This record gives sequence, structure tokens and C-alpha cells, in this order.
Amino acid sequence: MSAEGRLAGRVCFVTGAASGIGLACAQRYAAEGAAVLGLDLAPSTAWDALEAPAGKCFHSADVRDFSAQQSAVAAALDRWQRVDVVLTAAGVPGGGPVHMLEEDEWDRVIDINLKGTYLSCKAALPTLIEQRSGALITIASIEGLEGSEGGSAYNASKGGVVILTKNLAMDYGRLGIRANAICPGFIDTPMLRSVFQMEGMEVYRERVREQHKLGRFGKPEEIAGAAFFLASEDASFVTGQALAVDGGFNAGHTFDLVSMMGLD
Ligand SMILES: NC(=O)c1ccc[n+]([C@@H]2O[C@H](COP(=O)([O-])OP(=O)(O)OC[C@H]3O[C@@H](n4cnc5c(N)ncnc54)[C@H](O)[C@@H]3O)[C@@H](O)[C@H]2O)c1
Repeated sequence: MSAEGRLAGRVCFVTGAASGIGLACAQRYAAEGAAVLGLDLAPSTAWDALEAPAGKCFHSADVRDFSAQQSAVAAALDRWQRVDVVLTAAGVPGGGPVHMLEEDEWDRVIDINLKGTYLSCKAALPTLIEQRSGALITIASIEGLEGSEGGSAYNASKGGVVILTKNLAMDYGRLGIRANAICPGFIDTPMLRSVFQMEGMEVYRERVREQHKLGRFGKPEEIAGAAFFLASEDASFVTGQALAVDGGFNAGHTFDLVSMMGLD
């Protein structure tokens, strides 16, 4: 590895690396000089085009498969002898109100979003523990910090990711391993577009957008900015946090007083 940058010499393991937020984080890490191990169900053309001066490799795997995640980490160790950052972005939308939600759907969402996160961390932790260093960065959601209509399984999975991350910070902090969750607002990715394309959802797009105090959806690169900070030395004393990167979505409630305040 001979790349320059603020993450030069680091190795970053990114799940969900083929698309959206995971891809943007992998791109940012690579641009900052890190070597990147990507894991996803399959590579994408965007992953194939990713420029990584320090090197990259890809592992096609399902995050529910622990031995496949272990093999991915082993491949990174073979090639680069270390793992410094684990960023877990693999995830799926899903759910619905509980009385309509089938058990299979509950299990699918919890297994991928929550158990998959646990398995990614479990696969990498022996290496981080041996190194006595590392940064675990989980992609949760603002929907893991508060409820939203029909959220059920998705929100429960992301709330689980938040508290799992805090426990990782508790258990491994003394070994120099930090753990933080990023809680994105609604980010313009293939996942979000697919949700708003579902039957009946189109009309809600604007209402959801308006909940962001900045008046727009986020971009994957804006989550990657936070993911870079949390991976970097600038965050050396930051652990156990759930960082909302949400354009003010959960800053508070609005009651349409803009006219009264002269702000329209
Ligand atoms: N887009 C948003 O508004 C938003 C908001 C908050 C949180 N998130 C979270 O961010 C993460 C990334 O979402 P995104 O919006 O970039 O979506 P995306 O669909 O663009 O990317 C998700 C990636 O995860 C992969 N993936 C799905 N199931 C997998 C599995 N079982 N094993 C391995 N890989 C799997 C997909 O193939 C895909 O490449 C997800 O955890 C999502 O819940 C997204």
C-alpha cells in the first residue's frame, strides 16, 4: 500500500459496498488512501469503477452468512495483514404495521439489518482485538431513534443496531476499539427510490422531504463524510455515539409557524 491520504495504511471493510451509502463510504475511504474490502450480494458496475490507489477487493456474500463474512475478513488479512475500520451498510427496507406484518418478513428484515450487523462485527472483532485498535461504524437510521408510521420491523432492526453499537463501545473500548452508529435521515439512494416507487407511496415523498429541516433529502456522500470522520484520528475520543446525519429530521416537530415568524 503506497497511497497518500488521511487513511493511508488503513484497511476498511465495508458491507453493502455495491450501492448507495456503502458504496459512497467505500469511495471516500479509498479516496482518503485506505485499502477497501467490499462485501455485498454481488458487485455493481459502480463498485467495479471505484478507484482505490491502495487496493480493493470484493467478496460476494450475504451478511446473514457468518462463515462467508469470516472468509471476507481472511481475504483482507491475507492481502493487507490488518483491518482497521468496519462499516456496516448492508440493509433492506421492509415491514409494515404489526397486524399486517407476516412473521417471515419480520425475520428477514431483522436478520439482514440487525443480525447481519452483529455478524460483520463478530467476523472482524478477533482481528481488532489482536491489533488493540479499530473503528466499528454501523449504519443505523433516524428510524432507529424514533418511531415512524408503519416502521415496525425496520425501525426495530435499526433501534437494535443503535444499542448493539453502544454495547460494542462498552465492551471493547478498553482495547482501543471505538464503535459508533450513524443515523441517516432519508438519503437519495436506490433503496429510497424503490420505497417511493411502491404502490401508493409516491404522494408521501414530499411530506417526508419536508420533515428534513434543510428541506431536502441527503446525498450518500454526506453520510460518507460522517463515516470518514468516525474512521479518522479526528474521532479518536468519540465512541458509543449515535450520530444523526439527517438534515435536522429529528431536531424537533414543526407546526407550520413560518408565516408568524416571518420566515416564509
Ligand atoms: N437511503 C436511506 O434513506 C437510508 C436512511 C437510513 C438508513 N439507511 C441504511 O443505509 C444502509 C444502506 O442503504 P442504501 O440506502 O444505501 O440502500 P441500497 O439498496 O442502495 O444499498 C444497500 C446494499 O445492501 C446490499 N444488501 C442487501 N441485503 C444484503 C444481504 N443480505 N447481504 C449483503 N448485502 C446486502 C444490497 O445489495 C445493496 O447493495 C442500509 O442499512 C439502510 O437501512 C438508508
